[in-house]
Amino acid sequence: MSPRVLVLNGPNLNMLGVRQPEVYGRNSYADIVAVCERAAEARGAVAEVRQTNDEAEMIGWIHAVAREKSFDAIVINPAAWTHTSVALADALVIPEVPVFEVHISNVHAREAFRHHSYVSPIAAGVIAGFGIAGYGHAVDRAVDRA
Ligand code: DQA
Repeated sequence: MSPRVLVLNGPNLNMLGVRQPEVYGRNSYADIVAVCERAAEARGAVAEVRQTNDEAEMIGWIHAVAREKSFDAIVINPAAWTHTSVALADALVIPEVPVFEVHISNVHAREAFRHHSYVSPIAAGVIAGFGIAGYGHAVDRAVDRA
């Protein structure tokens, strides 16, 4: 069976390209999907890419991974929930699959409130500041660990 990677994107990432292009670049959300699918395909794996602005929906998707054992690894850009959500970090440990955290921007070079992540302590790897290319690297690593 091909390794299966679930790529999750949090709030406002659907607005990529429109949203603060000086910070996040001019690529669109569709470009993220393409980067992930290409990176997975190159490794004989499958990436399913999702985005939501609803934290309950995001947590439901993560619970489903635990219940259905449907994915071997999770790549997540939790967006603003990175800095706010204990609930999301708690959910991410439930499926017992490796979790890789992605940020398009270098959060450490930005406002102080972006320097703390609730997700990093439970992540197998973190990548920030590589633009949308970071998703490709994270998917590649997720396949290694799947
Ligand atoms: C982000 C960084 C977060 O601080 C921010 O809230 C986002 C996007 C990034 O990809 O650089 O929405 O996760």
